[in-house]
Amino acid sequence: MKPIQVGLLGIGTVGSGTFNVLKRNQEEIKRRAGRGIEITMVADLDTARASAAVGEGVQVVSDARAVIANPDIDIVIELIGGYGIAKQLVMEAIAAGKHVVTANKALLAVHGTEIFEAAQAKGVMVAFEAAVAGGIPIIKALREGLTANSIQWIAGIINGTTNFILSEMRDKGLDFATVLKEAQRLGYAEADPTFDIEGVDAAHKVTLMSAIAFGIPVQFAKAHVEGITKLAAQDIKYAEQLGYRIKLLGITRRAAGGIELRVHPALVPAKRLLANVEGAMNAVVVHGDAVGTTLYYGKGAGSEPTASAVIADLVDITRLHTADAAQRVPHLAFHPNAMSDHLDVLPMRDVVTSYYLRLRVADEAGVLARVTGLLANAGISIDAVLQREADEVGGEGSTQTDLIILTHDTKEGTVDDALAELQALPSVLAPIVRIRKEELS
Ligand code: HSE
Repeated sequence: MKPIQVGLLGIGTVGSGTFNVLKRNQEEIKRRAGRGIEITMVADLDTARASAAVGEGVQVVSDARAVIANPDIDIVIELIGGYGIAKQLVMEAIAAGKHVVTANKALLAVHGTEIFEAAQAKGVMVAFEAAVAGGIPIIKALREGLTANSIQWIAGIINGTTNFILSEMRDKGLDFATVLKEAQRLGYAEADPTFDIEGVDAAHKVTLMSAIAFGIPVQFAKAHVEGITKLAAQDIKYAEQLGYRIKLLGITRRAAGGIELRVHPALVPAKRLLANVEGAMNAVVVHGDAVGTTLYYGKGAGSEPTASAVIADLVDITRLHTADAAQRVPHLAFHPNAMSDHLDVLPMRDVVTSYYLRLRVADEAGVLARVTGLLANAGISIDAVLQREADEVGGEGSTQTDLIILTHDTKEGTVDDALAELQALPSVLAPIVRIRKEELS
């Protein structure tokens, strides 16, 4: 049978990785897919770069619409990124009856409902394994491997840039700004790292996993998003002394009143495997009622790791594109008419978790009692307290000290209210640091 023809929109790092791996492993991929898969047309504004990347025999154009208009192309790979032109091109490709493979988590987390509906109506597939955790086949695992389960929760390190920064901060005792500069110098962080360091990239990814895990629409706008820019080296050190590491986690959980969907730094017990994921690596823990806790680990970015996921999607489409659309795996794991509309994303005030609190206080009689008394009155149960020597915190003769408190599980709203009261105490001398703690047990 003639190879299936693929058009590639955007040939940067991932695009050239896809081209190279497809070429290098073409024989084995063909044996798996049942027929060959060939990228025959590439669109990129930089046609010289594109031509250099693909060599002879591949048509290179600057106009992406020429790829979509080509009747010989069955699958379009979108690797442009963003919500702008990428969205238009994906919608046009679907309208033209092309299957789409994309690594664009931002596009799907924000516009996924519209895109999947259009694909459903047209009977084409939109595949996005590369959009979450790069080379880790987490979409496949959630959508197919764990399909027997009622998934209870997912917690992931799904942004390599921030995990690299946090690892360096811990290893070297450096502050955030210093490590970010070094990460940019070494090429680990983008020149504009905003989406990574502010948690937005992780929120896009956890939004997609949440939809697949719980059969709910993609709802990025309802995700709670906090990045790592305000983390102090001091808190990483105190957390370590208490047996924890701080990680930027994407969490989604089935809770009593709805679904939790949140990204924020969190203390994780140092003995958990997730706490030991270092550098730019990614890892996702999924807890299903039948299987228990499972862990997926690997490279979350990079040319060939991400290409691995893109090509897995190409193979899936090649195997399934002649099948009746109703028999294919649904885009979001649940059949479109069986998506749940009764599970709301919970506001953060209703989320229940435990907390690390750091209070800079006057080192004088009665302060600890006032602080713990106020927490007790609010119904917040304390798990552990650590008080540093004043000299260690503020230098010799210091009259200030750090009081670190770990709480048991509490509703976030209760903690918000208690912290507002604590902050107003005259003996609390600086803004209180609050970091959530996830036991992941
Ligand atoms: N910028 C992402 C990261 C990779 O640092 O993990 C692409 O999603």
